[in-house]
Amino acid sequence: MANIKVGIIGGTGMQDWDVFELKEEKDVVTPYGKPSSKLTLGTVDGLECVLLNRHGSGHRSSPTYINYRANVYALHQEGCTHILATSACGSLKKECVPGHFVIIDQFIDRTNKRHTTFYDGEPGSLEGVCHIPMRHPFCAKLREVIVKSCIEEKVHVHSKGTAITIEGPRFSSYAESHMYRSWGGSIINMTTIPEVCLAHELGMLYAVIAMVTDYDCWQEDHEAVHVDYVMKVMKENREKVTRVVAKTLKAIGDNDWAAEVENAKMIAKTSVML
Ligand code: ADE
Repeated sequence: MANIKVGIIGGTGMQDWDVFELKEEKDVVTPYGKPSSKLTLGTVDGLECVLLNRHGSGHRSSPTYINYRANVYALHQEGCTHILATSACGSLKKECVPGHFVIIDQFIDRTNKRHTTFYDGEPGSLEGVCHIPMRHPFCAKLREVIVKSCIEEKVHVHSKGTAITIEGPRFSSYAESHMYRSWGGSIINMTTIPEVCLAHELGMLYAVIAMVTDYDCWQEDHEAVHVDYVMKVMKENREKVTRVVAKTLKAIGDNDWAAEVENAKMIAKTSVML
């Protein structure tokens, strides 16, 4: 487990986690401002981890106003090589049932008000223009490890799927929801973009556990998504995802990541035009 460290970004309903031994809380600042929460530094079976709450304590930041750049940069600054994120999501396919986990392998970006790059030409930002490749946004090996952990923990898991990330904070209209289904979307959420893209710009391996909480609003015979429903299912998911994350962290520590980390760093470096 030489030279690896895992950043964990806890999403909706995952504010206070107890997956690892608490070592230290750290307040940090980055060139892009302050992250959503303090960092909690800890270990799981000797693997160093850094925990961050995406929405801040008490779910204060709306998806549009989360400082994704500060969050990802803060984890990078702490030496994280991996990011393991969680996200509540709606289902766009009948077979993705509330309570299931989807380890997404693709995304469609429907956001429009976010900083999507560290290389924006502003003073203090990284220099140059970064055209980061995005054919395979989510680390295949990390996804495999998560899927295996879900199976071992008897959590119903879909080993791939396409996420539609919307700007929010409103949920989708009936017409939008059907359009996203026709595009081949499996799930819908509000935070995967730009998080995954920013992780790539810094050469980090990224995967997300998308936890289905609702059927969005496309089903005639189902109630449309409501925030109360999302929070109720997330409460039920807490214990499950804690077990899956703990198992995943242990498996990450048991694997050799040297080739993947080196490749991600090389791609990040060679994607910048100065
Ligand atoms: N998060 C949880 N459910 C969602 C939905 N239906 N749409 C967007 N984000 C969500």
